[in-house]
Amino acid sequence: MQDVIIRQEAIGPYRVNTYLLACAQTGKGVLIDPGGETERLISMVRDEGVELMYILNTHGHADHVLANQRLKAVFSVPVCMHEADDIFFAVAEVREKSEKELGLPAPAPADIRLTDGQVLTVGALRIKVIHTPGHTPGSVCFLAAGNLFTGDTLFVGDVGRTDLTGGSLDTLITSLREKVIVRRSSGQAMTTARRRPRRWAGRSRKISISRISFSPNNGFFKAGGRRA
Ligand SMILES: [Fe+2]
Repeated sequence: MQDVIIRQEAIGPYRVNTYLLACAQTGKGVLIDPGGETERLISMVRDEGVELMYILNTHGHADHVLANQRLKAVFSVPVCMHEADDIFFAVAEVREKSEKELGLPAPAPADIRLTDGQVLTVGALRIKVIHTPGHTPGSVCFLAAGNLFTGDTLFVGDVGRTDLTGGSLDTLITSLREKVIVRRSSGQAMTTARRRPRRWAGRSRKISISRISFSPNNGFFKAGGRRA
């Protein structure tokens, strides 16, 4: 397994999992889903001595992008989001609805639109974009050195909400079947997500994903991440 730096912190009003992912060899890295608390995230990057290359969003929900613009200004790095969410959240009606649902401002336009299968090079690290629509039209997972950063597509033992604007349970199930389960069966990846917050219980349809629930006792935590 490639040597990587991974730090996980629950950040912002929704306690979103924000990740610092970096190549241990070169110190180059990315922030995934900066959910607010800009100063804390700046300290995280500087404490690890990481040279930030990109800000990556697993999707465009406001709670995952809150610190995008301030961090972009501090580190002079591009914000990246899948093209489908960048297009979706640019629509005035969608922005208005999403802001009402989440009580937070919708995202600013991305600097780089990501596509399925795209690979970002960050030092010696290769970060693959896997389009997994369902939670939102442009939700993605990021695969890097055997770790799958799933955003709100998949939690430990649960899946993300599909009752928000642009969500589709059928599409999410298809994404999990065709893009995620196949990876697990090959032993290629594991989730780094945490269980969905208790406050969301019952607010969206429950489905059994026991066959694809992941053990927290996996390579991610061995790699030095903190279990949330
Ligand atoms: Fe979300």
